[in-house]
Amino acid sequence: MDRIVITGGNRLRGEVRISGAKNSALPILASTILGGGECVITNVPRVADVLTMGKLLGIFGATVSHEGNRAVIKADIINSTEAPYDLVKTMRASVLTLGPLVARWGEAKVSLPGGCAIGSRPVNLHLAGLAKLGADISLEHGYITAKAKRLKGARIYCDTPTVTGTENLMMAASLAEGTTVLENAAKEPEIVDLADFLCKRGARIEGAGTDVLTIEGVRELQGGEHEVIPDRIEAGTFLAAGAMTRGDVTITHCRPAHLEAILMKLREAGAEVSVEKERVRITAPKRLKGTDIRTLPYPGFPTDMQAQMAALMCLAEGTSIVTETVFESRFMHVEELRRMGADIRVEGNRLVVTGRRSLTGAPVMASDLRASAGLILAGLAADGMTEVQRVYHLDRGYERIEEKLRALGAKIERQKPSAATVR
Ligand code: UD1
Repeated sequence: MDRIVITGGNRLRGEVRISGAKNSALPILASTILGGGECVITNVPRVADVLTMGKLLGIFGATVSHEGNRAVIKADIINSTEAPYDLVKTMRASVLTLGPLVARWGEAKVSLPGGCAIGSRPVNLHLAGLAKLGADISLEHGYITAKAKRLKGARIYCDTPTVTGTENLMMAASLAEGTTVLENAAKEPEIVDLADFLCKRGARIEGAGTDVLTIEGVRELQGGEHEVIPDRIEAGTFLAAGAMTRGDVTITHCRPAHLEAILMKLREAGAEVSVEKERVRITAPKRLKGTDIRTLPYPGFPTDMQAQMAALMCLAEGTSIVTETVFESRFMHVEELRRMGADIRVEGNRLVVTGRRSLTGAPVMASDLRASAGLILAGLAADGMTEVQRVYHLDRGYERIEEKLRALGAKIERQKPSAATVR
């Protein structure tokens, strides 16, 4: 397995271009099977999850071609409506194909995603919503089966705002007969991006980005072209890297409006942040200050930035409380950060972090995508060498991360198993 080796201590400096958002590209790609015609999607990040989604669409029988950051998908006919366990187990977001399959093709058989490192992550709200739209849902042999001649619009209330749940239901309702009103919907920018793409193809959706979505079902969707929005979590990760290494980093091709909660916290921690149209520059002239953080659904502070900010707080002055309210056990990075000398402990759904003047490099193990990013940041700022193992988690969501960090002056390299030095 690949590992990433970092020699910490370099101040990061320079500009880095932010890639397209993984969490936007995934539902947008899944939605291509809702209609015929050609879908051309640009600014698609080449990360493992996106390639997995491409494979899944290929299994259904869609033609998928992926060149650089452009994907072209045609799903005029499909020959399978089954998302097999082997793929779903590597990417939970495969469940995003459930809504489109049943809405357009009348049936879907999608493996139930298993447990994952950040908590139990049920899909009950996706299923309850589809049942409200008239799908006949059953769970057998580890698979969700959904069937419906044609879905029917309904009023749906989500107990908890769920991002992929909202996306699944919005896609399904786009082809349902009549009107669907989805209340307590999630408001993430990725949902707005998906709605924009669906509307370009003939869907009638209002309210995306608010907590009430109104979807007027249409008979069919056509092809369309769309550019995926920039990845706000990748953007936040590079800004945190700049601040933690007391560097001077400018992220480009980003949407500052999507970064407000992150920028506010970085400023509160003492970083200097200046914002232009599609660029944000961060400098951290002196030691950062501890800051409390509470993760919340958008526009609150994103849970996907919690591990990176916890790593940052390990070096900030004073004590910070990081409260995780979105997922139940998203603290797998904590023990690894302690191995690097961090003073950090878990109390229920909170982290109590007392900043140290320095961290020391160590071999550490990544447990999920964002925990990996937190460990990379800690390694960049630590004294000596850090070796991050199980980087396949990182590859699920960050495009060319070591190349981008190297261009900013980081000493970071990927070692393939054969080239790995035994220490
Ligand atoms: C998406 C993101 C993920 C991010 C998360 C929260 C994608 C592909 N993934 O995940 O990166 O961390 O949003 O911002 O976009 N819940 C239920 N029942 C359900 C669905 C969700 O109880 O049927 C709960 C979850 O356990 C969690 C909360 O709702 O506590 C929010 O989860 P959700 O927004 O659904 O996360 P995902 O869409 O899986």
